Amino acid sequence: MARIIKKELLNENVSRLTVDAPHIARAARPGQFVVIIPREDAERIPLTIADADVAKGTITIIFQIVGATTTVLDSLPEGAEIAHLLGPLGTPSHIAKLGTVVVIGGGVGIAEIYPAVKAHKAIGNEVITIIGARNKELLIYEKELTAYSSRLVVTTDDGSAGRKGFVSDELKDIIASGKKIAEVVAVGPVPMMRVCCETTKPHGIKTVVSLNPLMLDATGMCGVCRVTVGGQIKFACVEGPEFDGHQVDFAELTARLKGYKDVEKQAHDHVCRLLKGLEK
Ligand SMILES: Cc1cc2nc3c(=O)[nH]c(=O)nc-3n(C[C@H](O)[C@H](O)[C@H](O)COP(=O)(O)OP(=O)(O)OC[C@H]3O[C@@H](n4cnc5c(N)ncnc54)[C@H](O)[C@@H]3O)c2cc1C
Ligand code: FES
Repeated sequence: MARIIKKELLNENVSRLTVDAPHIARAARPGQFVVIIPREDAERIPLTIADADVAKGTITIIFQIVGATTTVLDSLPEGAEIAHLLGPLGTPSHIAKLGTVVVIGGGVGIAEIYPAVKAHKAIGNEVITIIGARNKELLIYEKELTAYSSRLVVTTDDGSAGRKGFVSDELKDIIASGKKIAEVVAVGPVPMMRVCCETTKPHGIKTVVSLNPLMLDATGMCGVCRVTVGGQIKFACVEGPEFDGHQVDFAELTARLKGYKDVEKQAHDHVCRLLKGLEK
């Protein structure tokens, strides 16, 4: 059990929870995640550890409400107990003194890059952060990321804030300017990560992506999270979730993410009716 200390809505469908979890806060490293079972009758879902405060013994998780389990999690009020919280899981990000690092976040991935931005800054890298959302209302974490970025660029699909266009447009321009980039880190929707990799590959710029396959046990035993990287099968929960983006089979990842759409919709509808008291 883990108590929700604070709950905030960052935009219309993204919530931030501060959770009492001193052991996880002490051990967490950038790039790692937790598995959450919000209520005893709910499923397990992986969520990135978006921040950890060792002194207060808390971790922060930020999640988009997309289906059954995130809806149940969002229904828990401040002070409620999360039934099960397991972590930290996954292989931590490789953070080294490299020079200039471009860190890119799209959608809820904006919050997920926060630990990497902080860690690259702390080790002495120049951090150029690019964040993108569909529109101004969906932008999150601009102030928090600005604090640790040498430069922060905002893009929106509709131009309602920052540059009109995609994060990859800004990445292309930075590369075209001749800036020497040691590494790119991209976290967000699969199409966004794929385009970032296609942009950097011809220039030989190392690009790390954080993959989000479906996960079940998240301890390397069930194989649900398998992804193909460099022609080899990898289990993202233990060998990832971060991988060399130039080696990732994004088409396979996309296809596997769509595998349970019908069942996911049924589960979401059921949970919504339960929470409204229309079903037992
Ligand atoms: C290592 C890891 C870290 C993650 N960190 C975060 C995080 O910090 N914040 C966050 O909001 N989400 C994160 N995710 C994705 C999150 O786990 C899913 O959104 C969640 O499992 C959805 O559960 P659900 O039951 O609410 O929706 P489901 O019913 O499972 O899914 C509803 C719809 O959401 C989409 N979806 C489901 N799972 C994923 C997925 N893994 N990636 C992309 N889209 C998906 C699909 O379109 C699906 O049809 C992470 C995933 C992984 C693997
Ligand atoms: S989720 Fe089961 S092996 Fe990764």
